This record gives sequence, structure tokens and C-alpha cells, in this order.
Amino acid sequence: MTSLPPSASLDSFNKLTSDPNLELAVRIASGAGKLLLDRPDDLQVETKSTATDIVTLMDQRAEAFIVSQINENRPNDAILGEEGANQDGTSGFQWVIDPIDGTVNYLHRVPFWCVSIGLMEESTGQALAGVVFVPELDQMYISSRGLGSWVIDAGVPKELAVSGCSDLSQALVGTGFGYSSTRRASQARVLQNVLPNVADIRRLGSCAIDLCLVAAGVLDAYYERGVNAWDHAAGELIAREAGALSTGLFGKSIGNDMIVVANPAIHGHLVAILEVNQADQD
Ligand code: IPD
Ligand code: CA
Ligand code: CA
Repeated sequence: MTSLPPSASLDSFNKLTSDPNLELAVRIASGAGKLLLDRPDDLQVETKSTATDIVTLMDQRAEAFIVSQINENRPNDAILGEEGANQDGTSGFQWVIDPIDGTVNYLHRVPFWCVSIGLMEESTGQALAGVVFVPELDQMYISSRGLGSWVIDAGVPKELAVSGCSDLSQALVGTGFGYSSTRRASQARVLQNVLPNVADIRRLGSCAIDLCLVAAGVLDAYYERGVNAWDHAAGELIAREAGALSTGLFGKSIGNDMIVVANPAIHGHLVAILEVNQADQD
């Protein structure tokens, strides 16, 4: 990324960044990222659904910041956040936020954690705009429906496109695991069948970043069972706008059951392998 994009691309970047929804989401994600980088010594870790499903003081602070900013700028919009935000609105738009996607990484100082903010159209459930900000890497992934996907990497904009890998056996595939041991045991069984059919697996610890890496062509595919709307609201739009296919299994749309996001050349093959292992998926 040494040169600026050609002017045709730059026009599309300018069009994208003029979207007022995206502009607001970028501003809020930047603010939340700044807040999160200034971490206290005591993160005040508490547990949620299981002993390994944690929440820190900073997840809560960042969510409160994001919610207050949305309320100030878009008082009529609905909000859904992982750490409890749940507000109805009257505008027909809903902000779906994960204040830290990758909390375990944040706790352990692994740099792969992000702020994820998606704006959904309530009538269709479809994303209109999405931002995934990775503060430690200074990477801002952005997209608006129909306007493509970009990353602003340390201030340098770069258009995103999925990889050209057309052979699943050569694909680098991201995945993730849930927080319950039953779910993890079944995910391990499925992985046993996926692993021999791909080049390798990465478990980076943030669904939103995994999706952005598919958009960037760094990962060729990503799948996971058990992710929630706040995990993928922004990243899934960013991946699709970069050319990825995104489905569940057996012709279903993405959901808590399964999300499979991959470049179109290998998506069907990965889905087929996951469908064979459906019986293993508790
Ligand atoms: C988690 C991360 C992880 C994925 C889990 C998610 P959190 O979100 O995205 O990569 O495997 O399913 O719950 O808890 O760090 O916000
Ligand atoms: Ca998450
Ligand atoms: Ca989270």
C-alpha cells in the first residue's frame, strides 16, 4: 500500500465516505477505539453465560459511549448492543453494535480486537452501513450497501476484494468457537472434518475481523456456528461488498445456526463439507 488508488477508485472511495450513516459510524467507532486503548490496570472482569464468556469494564464503557453518541445524533433509531443495549426506535433503522469483538484478545493483549458498528434497515433486516475498527492496528474497515468496501490502513485507503483462490484444499479458512463446552466439543468434531479439506485454519478470536480479512482476500473463507447479530452486522456487509458469498447451510440465510462467508469460487464446496457434518453440530 505505497500508492494512492487510481482516480476511478478514489471516486468510489469519496462516494462511500460521503454516506452520512457511514461517516457517523466511523466517527463513533474512532471515539470508542480511543477510549478502549486507554485501558485501566483493573479491567474488572466478570463472567456471562459461562466461566470463559467474559465482560470487562471497558466493554461496558465502550458500549455506553457508542449508545450515547447514537442517541445524540440519531435519537429516533433503535439500538441493539452485546452488553445489554436494547432500545426501540421510530425511524426504521437499527444500530447493531459490539463494543469489543474479541474481548478475550483484549484481556490478553492480543491485538486482534475491534469495535463493530452496523446500521440495519429494520424492514428487510439488511445492513446499510458497517464499520469495523481495529485500534491496535489502526485499521478502519468500512462499507455501505452498493458502494463497495475499503480499509483505511494507517491513514491509507485501499479497496477490498476477496481472494481468487478456487481450490478449497489451498484455502486459509477462519473460524471461531463458542463459550459453552458442549458447543465447543461439537465445533471440534466439525473441525476434524474440515481440516483435511483445507490448507489451514485460523482462529483469530474476532468474528468481525475474520469477516474483514475475507473481504481483504487475506482469509479465503470464514465459518462459525453460534455467532450473534452484533458479531457480524458490519463485517458481513464489508465481506459481501468485497465480493464474498454469505449464507447458512441448506439454503438458509446466515444466522445463529451457521454463517459461511467465502469467495464465490470455494463457498459452495465449504458449505457442502459443513452440511455433511450437520449431525455433529449441537
Ligand atoms: C466472540 C468473537 C469470537 C467468536 C465468538 C464471539 P466476543 O465475540 O467474535 O471470535 O468465536 O463466537 O462470541 O465475545 O469477543 O464479543
Ligand atoms: Ca462479539
Ligand atoms: Ca463483544
